[in-house]
Amino acid sequence: MDRIAIRGGRPLCGSIPIGGAKNAALPLMAAALLSDEQLTLTNVPWLADIASMAALLAQHGLAVDLPAPETAAQARVLRLGGAIQNTTAPYDIVRKMRASILVLGPILARCGEARVSLPGGCAIGTRPVDLHLKGLEAMGASVSIEGGYIHARSEGRLRGASIVSPAVSVGATENLMMAASLADGHTTLINAAREPEISDLAECLNAMGGRIRGHGSERIEIEGVQRLSGTTHHIIPDRIETGTYAIATAIAGGDVMLEGGRIEHLGAFATALSRAGVDIFAENGGIRVRRNGHRVRGADIMTEPYPGFPTDLQAQFMALMATAEGAAMITETIFENRFMHVPELARMGADIVVHNASAIVRGVKNLSGAPVMATDLRASVSLVLAGLAAGGETIVNRVYHLDRGYERVEAKLAACGADIERLAG
Ligand code: UD1
Repeated sequence: MDRIAIRGGRPLCGSIPIGGAKNAALPLMAAALLSDEQLTLTNVPWLADIASMAALLAQHGLAVDLPAPETAAQARVLRLGGAIQNTTAPYDIVRKMRASILVLGPILARCGEARVSLPGGCAIGTRPVDLHLKGLEAMGASVSIEGGYIHARSEGRLRGASIVSPAVSVGATENLMMAASLADGHTTLINAAREPEISDLAECLNAMGGRIRGHGSERIEIEGVQRLSGTTHHIIPDRIETGTYAIATAIAGGDVMLEGGRIEHLGAFATALSRAGVDIFAENGGIRVRRNGHRVRGADIMTEPYPGFPTDLQAQFMALMATAEGAAMITETIFENRFMHVPELARMGADIVVHNASAIVRGVKNLSGAPVMATDLRASVSLVLAGLAAGGETIVNRVYHLDRGYERVEAKLAACGADIERLAG
């Protein structure tokens, strides 16, 4: 299994190209199930999760034309098309990637039936799918759990409904928005997620002939249509990758351009970084991040649905706060059990105390390199970031987690002067 070796202490200078958003690409790929015509996606990131979703769609019967991995990121095009031939999403693929649940709404809306393996537990909490299922039931589906599979059926087409979600869920909003696009009549999603990835999906669905309004707000209105057609859609830049490299610059010090990053997608993250004493501003169609000389300051954060501070940047921000002057309180409100990076950061000399959903991080002047590993994607990258600031060598094990969400992380950081390499095997 590959590892990543980092020798810390070098500032970062230069520019880092930001790839297409993984969390936008996955629902957009599932949207290909809504039409027999071809959906062409550009700015596709090359990541293990994209390959998993491609494999899932292929086994549902779609023709999947994946670009060669060596294709330059900007030129990467993914073509998906054809009819659904199999309505079952098997355990073997779903267990690898929870976002597989996103095929449920589209297949049910098209075929009147879908069987999707229950995703089950995962490293960052129990993560149920009840909101997806209740929303589909409100649209007239009957849902049962049989042999570990969700079995959803509808007599004829789904029916539009007014659905009030008791909690904000990105995946449920996406699933219901796709299903409602092919339902009879009007659907209103109240307390919908407002993430930029939701808007990206809505815009693609509208380009396919859908009639969606209000995306980006907590009330989404969807007028069902008879059929959707093909289109070509350019995926938005990845705001979590952007935030991760912004923190890399902040923790290592230096001055880096994040090419193509959009500051308006960063929400409370950009404010938190400024409060920590890091310069972050829009420049030349990207984002510039700078920290020269002084240490970062402790800044409290609480994760919240967008535009609040994203849970997917919590581990990385904690690594930064571990090196800050003063203390920071970090509160995780989205997922229980999302502090697995704490004991690993502690092995590098971080001073962190966890109490329920909050962690008190007392910054230390120097972290020290150590062999570490993590069991989820964002936790893994937080250890790479800590390694950039630590004295000596850090070896991050189990990097297949990183490969699920970061394309060529070591190459992007090395191009800005980091001493980092991938060790094969
Ligand atoms: C998406 C992102 C993930 C991010 C998360 C929160 C993708 C592919 N993944 O995941 O990277 O961390 O948003 O920003 O876009 N919940 C329920 N019942 C449900 C659904 C969710 O209780 O039916 C709970 C979850 O357990 C969690 C919270 O709602 O506590 C938010 O989850 P959700 O927004 O659904 O996350 P995902 O869509 O799975």
